Amino acid sequence: MEKRSASNSTKTEDSYPRFSLSSLGFGPSATSKCSLPPPPPPVEVLLSEEESSVKSNVESIIIDEGLTLLKGRVSTFDVFGVANSDLVPGKYEGGLKLWEGSIDLVKRLQSEVQEGQLLLRGKRVLELGCGHGLPGIFAGLVGAGAIHFQDFNAEVLRSLTIPNVKVNLEKHLNQQLSLLTDNNSISISPDVRFFAGDWNEVHQILPYGCNTVDQKETNVSLEDKSLDGYDVILMAETVYALSSLHSLYGLIKRSMHHPSGVIYMAGKKHYFGVGGGTRQFVNLVEEDGLMRACLLAGVADGSSNVREVWKFIFK
Ligand SMILES: C[S@@+](CC[C@H](N)C(=O)[O-])C[C@H]1O[C@@H](n2cnc3c(N)ncnc32)[C@H](O)[C@@H]1O
Repeated sequence: MEKRSASNSTKTEDSYPRFSLSSLGFGPSATSKCSLPPPPPPVEVLLSEEESSVKSNVESIIIDEGLTLLKGRVSTFDVFGVANSDLVPGKYEGGLKLWEGSIDLVKRLQSEVQEGQLLLRGKRVLELGCGHGLPGIFAGLVGAGAIHFQDFNAEVLRSLTIPNVKVNLEKHLNQQLSLLTDNNSISISPDVRFFAGDWNEVHQILPYGCNTVDQKETNVSLEDKSLDGYDVILMAETVYALSSLHSLYGLIKRSMHHPSGVIYMAGKKHYFGVGGGTRQFVNLVEEDGLMRACLLAGVADGSSNVREVWKFIFK
């Protein structure tokens, strides 16, 4: 039985874990990849597959005076059988915790929308490495037409992302909500879907995709695929492991609309001890030469090392 209790907490120490050598030594790429088990096959998780047997507390995250988001808190022990704060290579990749970058990203998205720099209404949005999914949820609140959430772990989607989506979006989208109880499946409008899988493989099941990578592989012209792909890709705290940056960038190139797609990325400038960071990802993108990177914000609030929000568009 689902157990939920409301509280009004905002930031808590263990909501915002810091990377450490012990935690970041894990991850699908931070350790020697060959010692890791193969990732679970990519799979779509249905909204109706919400895991309700895991105890979850609901907390408020105050973004600013006008915007408060709700988030669940579940224990990694209850979901994965491992102690809180552990990352287990190839098994659990940290999605049950709320990382600082996702709040930075929501704040930046909100100001981009308010300043007319970003239109999310009606757009196809993909949040990579979503965990709690707050940036994708924000996109839903301002009218995105499709929001697709990706995480390494189906368990994270079932026990945390889906409940977060429901508690935030159902409240705000009540009038657009359409509940269909056909074969026990429930869908809400807008098009909200959930995909679990490794960045090397999950493109196989994502509904939208194009372009540059597949173009090279299949000789399909960009013009033929220009209507495909996500308009906006969001990701927070996904660039910590140096050796997974290529697969992450490859997935983006396969998934992003050409030529108008845009990526918003939040993360730490450096993840000490593991080699990843926003600047490493920016270097990778700039060396590839397809996209232009633009620094939108630097955050040095003392709660972690310096964090950044970046935007990428096609040249
Ligand atoms: C540090 S967590 C960040 C979670 C969330 N975006 C936040 O900021 O709170 C990193 C996320 O990336 C996902 N991830 C990490 N490596 C991955 C990989 N190789 N393939 C797919 N997802 C991965 C994890 O599942 C996790 O949700």
